[in-house]
Amino acid sequence: MIDNNTMMQRDLEVIWHPCTQMKDHETLPLVPIRSGRGVYLYDFEGNSYIDAVSSWWVNLFGHANARINARVKAQLDTLEHVLLAGFTHEPAVELAHKLVNLTPETLKKVFYVDNGSSAVEAALKMSYHYHRNLGRKKALFLSLTNSYHGETLGALSVGDVSLYKETYEPLLIENMQVPVPKDQSKEAAKEALVALEEVLKSEGEHIAAFIVEPLVQGAGSMHMYHPHYLEGARALTKQYSVHLIADEIMTGFGRTGKMFACEHAGISPDFMTLSKGLTGGYLPLSVVMTTDEVYSAFYCDYSEHKAFLHSHSYTGNPLACSAALETLAIFETENILESNEKKSRYIAKKLHAFEALENVASVRQQGMVAAVELQGYKAEERIGLEIYRYGLKNGVLLRPLGNVIYFMPPYIISYEEIDTMMRVAYEGIVELKRKN
Ligand SMILES: Cc1ncc(COP(=O)(O)O)c(C=O)c1O
Repeated sequence: MIDNNTMMQRDLEVIWHPCTQMKDHETLPLVPIRSGRGVYLYDFEGNSYIDAVSSWWVNLFGHANARINARVKAQLDTLEHVLLAGFTHEPAVELAHKLVNLTPETLKKVFYVDNGSSAVEAALKMSYHYHRNLGRKKALFLSLTNSYHGETLGALSVGDVSLYKETYEPLLIENMQVPVPKDQSKEAAKEALVALEEVLKSEGEHIAAFIVEPLVQGAGSMHMYHPHYLEGARALTKQYSVHLIADEIMTGFGRTGKMFACEHAGISPDFMTLSKGLTGGYLPLSVVMTTDEVYSAFYCDYSEHKAFLHSHSYTGNPLACSAALETLAIFETENILESNEKKSRYIAKKLHAFEALENVASVRQQGMVAAVELQGYKAEERIGLEIYRYGLKNGVLLRPLGNVIYFMPPYIISYEEIDTMMRVAYEGIVELKRKN
């Protein structure tokens, strides 16, 4: 029987891990996972970990979900993959219809991609290209401070987390940023809208699109803001002929309490990017949703050179589409949003207890995302790592973002598992205080 250490050594001989300083693994053991079931991940020695971060925010209905497993297995025996240019297949067609029905009203067309960053790239290109097809030169993008939209160069350009972006600055495309509302109050949203209007007034004619993470900036340490900002941003972008791209890659599929975060503000963007939870956390897949108006600007004779000639090999993969279809079927049959609302309220109650801790600056929550911000620590102290270690030792996978510990569990988490997840984080924070 292989143990954790053997698997770790074999891994470290050949694998360069994502978003990791590999030297850290001289002192920080890798966690080799052998299997998963429900909210639990199991290592090679039988230890279990509650997946409190839904494996980078993708898993909605647990690991090895019986319904999704069955659907993907059936698809595997039917069609594993076919190119989507010139060909199509049933899972892609059915999924696109479902997404058009589910998303805000004006979104009528689905462009398949295969991961979050690529969806952002495609949306940026499409927006720029739309304006070009209409004879407008708009080569600038606008985004929010503290935003995150992925790691490829275009996506990184519109992001603002310096830890990921700074090194590559000379390689990036031109981008402007406006301040994100400083907190979840309506006043902060109003204030930020004034700044947005100023930029749109002076630069709007050069800006193709304004891209936002609606309500929650995930990698920006789970920063949250009021839906009023989205309402205002929608009105202003329309007024200045600038597209609004809602990047719902993290917030989509119920995470914020509604199916899509845009629904909290009752807005319909020009583009919506979706990925992560789309397949229930099973397989890479993403989409760019857009309007008939955008689609029509590309629809003409080939000789006019207006076609969107963007593609990826695994675009619209049938196995991924079938996982997505079953994910949506679970939403349809199991009252997920309602039960999430109850769980969110339960999490909210437990979150208040953290506020009393001396080293906690504040707590915040939006639906099934909850965050605890610590105070009194410098970045070099890497206290997030301390909490991560503490969590693993006590059976919970917490992966803090700097000084922010957050909970974003699969929706099937039970109340007892919520208790454990939050108790371990609480104790970890208390322990941190005791040691310092
Ligand atoms: C809002 C948002 N956009 C885009 C991405 C990039 O997605 P991917 O990691 O699949 O490239 C992420 C990933 O965390 C995200 O949170």
